[in-house]
Amino acid sequence: MPKTRTVYLCSECGGESHRWQGRCPHCQAWNTLVEERVQPKGPSARIDPLPSTEAKPVSLAAVEGAERPRWRIGLNELDFVLGGGVVPGSLVLLGGEPGIGKSTLLLQVSARLAAAGQRVLYVSGEESPYQVKLRAERLAEPTDEVLLLAETSAEAILERVVELGPQVLVVDSIQTLYTDRLEGAPGSVAQVREVAGALQRVSKRCEMATFIVGHVTKEGGIAGPKTLEHIADVVLYFESPTGLDQRIVRGTKNRFGAADEIALFRMGASGLQPVENPSALFLQGRQDRASGSAVAAALEGTRPVLVEVQALVNRAVYGAPQRVATGFDGRRLSLLLAVLERRARLRTGDQDVFLNVVGGLRVTEPAADLSVVAAVASAVRDSVLDPGAVFVGEVGLGGEVRPVSQLERRLSEASRLGFERAYISASTDGSKTRLPLEVVRVRDVGALIVELFG
Ligand code: TYD
Ligand code: MG
Repeated sequence: MPKTRTVYLCSECGGESHRWQGRCPHCQAWNTLVEERVQPKGPSARIDPLPSTEAKPVSLAAVEGAERPRWRIGLNELDFVLGGGVVPGSLVLLGGEPGIGKSTLLLQVSARLAAAGQRVLYVSGEESPYQVKLRAERLAEPTDEVLLLAETSAEAILERVVELGPQVLVVDSIQTLYTDRLEGAPGSVAQVREVAGALQRVSKRCEMATFIVGHVTKEGGIAGPKTLEHIADVVLYFESPTGLDQRIVRGTKNRFGAADEIALFRMGASGLQPVENPSALFLQGRQDRASGSAVAAALEGTRPVLVEVQALVNRAVYGAPQRVATGFDGRRLSLLLAVLERRARLRTGDQDVFLNVVGGLRVTEPAADLSVVAAVASAVRDSVLDPGAVFVGEVGLGGEVRPVSQLERRLSEASRLGFERAYISASTDGSKTRLPLEVVRVRDVGALIVELFG
């Protein structure tokens, strides 16, 4: 039996050091080394229930097979984020805070795929079969065909996988699994890295789609080494932007589709229901009779989403005036206020300015600039904007309004939701849109103010 030894593993990159240091010598991250005890092992000690295949190099021309079919889950929003369904042989990592609905979502996924004829194995290291059964009973899904295994030993799980040959494997959660070949508690960097690596090898070789639940740290990243995200083909984060029943699944990496797509769900009494119309959700409860409200047509991934931007401007009582932005970059807000002051004589220098993107979305696109400018101007003038108008444009330091990408798609979403007027950049190409929208072209922020308030 080889002696165990102490090593220091980096929780960012998984790199190994022999003594503690303030900075990881591999990835240069600060304060990420954690002490772990491992057993030195030969190459045969890897957890791997399958004999290694003797892969030989082939020319690309000789690689067989057209695009493999994807398995559609039937939860349209999730299929969309995955890029059109699950790819056999892929590893999908789902991160999120406790209680947000990860187990619920993956049980629904299991049920749907099982009902569609796939052999699905749901492994829970967190709950007993009875607890999973109770959850299954709440869902309006056909869960009968899902095979359930309550187990935390990686070796035992992989043995069952080889025996059963499932096409879909769900592991809830990676932090509860352990392998006997390493010392260290479940959830430690070395354990997570080793178990995830073994799952990945088995998925690839058996053409099995694997979903892994990962807990998140206080900082919001998936707990464990960054290598976990590197080996996954798709990384999804589950969030609740408002703390209410809305849930967003956000893709941050996708080898088989566009990253950065979002899917919206609502947590109800019988599980998660896809919300097919994100814009309507973000615009609901809109205060269209108050000043300081403007609507932006932003892009989330490849999809246009309409969001309300609210501004409140109030005389600063003491000290330096505050600029507080929620869901929008605070420095960008300061910049836009300076542009408004210099280029359109709209003074906010002695005012507190609060800006809020309603619904918990974070808008990072410059295309939302024009809506921010419109909302602030409306708040300063205390004058209500046309509730049927959307604002799309980037604002430059000279006060000029610049064109944005994918304008037609943004406008068609606005038109679909009943908006009648769009303020866009005067230098946008193309003369007319075919949409039933009145298009107002503005050259700069001064022109916008004149258009809005005369
Ligand atoms: P769960 O999937 O256990 O979250 P996670 O695995 O991310 O920790 O979901 C837990 C919450 O979801 C719990 O507070 C109960 C709620 N819930 C519903 O509101 N409706 C339902 O149909 C189900 C199954 C759960
Ligand atoms: Mg859970």
